[in-house]
This record gives sequence, C-alpha cells and structure tokens, in this order.
Amino acid sequence: MQKGQMVYEGKAKRVYECERDDAYIVEFKDDATAFNGQKKGSITKKGVYNNAISTVFFDWLKQEGIVTHYIDTLSEREMLVKRVRIIPVEVVTRNVAAGTLASRLGLIEGEKLKQTVVEFYLKNDELGDPLINHSHAVALELATREELDHLERTALMINDILYERLHTKGVLLVDFKLEFGVTAEGEIVLADEISPDTCRFWDEQTNEKLDKDRFRRDLGRVEEAYQEILHRIQNK
Ligand code: C5P
Repeated sequence: MQKGQMVYEGKAKRVYECERDDAYIVEFKDDATAFNGQKKGSITKKGVYNNAISTVFFDWLKQEGIVTHYIDTLSEREMLVKRVRIIPVEVVTRNVAAGTLASRLGLIEGEKLKQTVVEFYLKNDELGDPLINHSHAVALELATREELDHLERTALMINDILYERLHTKGVLLVDFKLEFGVTAEGEIVLADEISPDTCRFWDEQTNEKLDKDRFRRDLGRVEEAYQEILHRIQNK
C-alpha cells in the first residue's frame, strides 16, 4: 500500500494517509529522544524492532479480546492501523517502582509495588507531559470520567496479559505507557505502540535492563536489548 500525505511526525514515528480513508500507515523511525527531547540520538534498527515487537504485543492482546488500532504489518518499518483521534492522556501502569515514580515518591528502584499503580499524564511536550488526576482530565475535557475508568480498567487488563506472557519469557514487566484513540465510529481502541521505547523490561534472573533506559542512562548495548526482547517474545 502506498503512503500518502504525512499527517503527523512524532519523536519515534511518522503517520501517513493511505488509500483507505479509515486507516493510516505508521512508519517507525530509529530516532531516540529522552527527558522530553533534551537528549537526542539514534538507535540502529530501532524502528524495525519496535514495529515487530508492537506487532507481537498487539497480536497477544487481540487473542485476549483487547481491541487495538492494529490492522496489518506492511513492511519492516510500516504498520497499517485504524484511523483514530488520539486521546491526549498517557496511561502509565506500574508493577515495580522505577523512573519518575521512584524519584517522585522516594521509592527504591526495583521495589515491587503492593498494588499495581495506574497514572494519567497530559500528553503535551511543551509542558513535559505533567502528571494529572481524574478531575484534571475531566476539567480539561480530555475525557469523561467513564472514559477514564474504561482506560484504567483496560490498562489493568493489558497489564495482566502482558505481565503473564512476558513472565514465561523470563522478562519482568516493570511499567509501561499506553495511548488510546477514538475511531470514526466512536469506539475507544488501544493505539500508538508497545515497545522497549514505551515499557521497562528487566531480565527476571539478572535484572538487566532490556529497554530504552539503556539509552537514557548511557548503559550501552542499546540495540542488543531491543533485539533481545524481539527474540524472546517471538520464541514460542
Ligand atoms: O519516566 P516514567 O518512569 O514516568 O515512565 C514510566 C513508563 O512510561 C516507562 O516505561 C516509560 O518508558 C514510559 N513512558 C513513555 N512515554 C512518556 C513517558 C513515559 O513511553 N512520555
């Protein structure tokens, strides 16, 4: 399928129109950014890995009845997805303390949380994606309270599915970020990507980081980590 006009360029992806008016083509780039764009770089073949990894995760979720924007994988870097309006709320789910949760609440990285935590962030680069609560989201008309409850419940269901399946691959799902969109028919579906750019994955045996934290913290072997995740989830 031919790409048409580009409708959006983000930090890691470009989105194009195509001959189907209910679909977009997403192209995954190798560009990497961290700390809200302050750190910039490139990870060799990242776009190829993230396209393949997201394909596997969307397939796992479909098998369990979760509706996503995924339609088809078109090429190494291109995915065909349903056309949606992205809800400007990033939904972060956490099983283990790390990243901004650990620093904000003074927790030790690696501490298992007694209960899974779901957080909402406003999707706004200029403001650095601030943490928001339900009433902020409703007041700013980002979503209704019912929609937010639906996003939270869906994020927890997705967490259960991915956590269990990754466990069988020896991978600990520490935390991850989801984005949702609304189709022309008004259905809320999971959108964006699920990849080492948007999740924290640790090896269960060694606690080795297998995600974008290797880039954020200059830990080296970044490309190898993405490749390792793809390899593990593709193995039956
Ligand atoms: O940085 P923080 O600890 O809040 O990130 C939580 C999770 O959400 C991590 O897996 C991170 O990769 C992901 N995230 C993301 N995009 C953002 C912020 C966080 O994918 N803008």
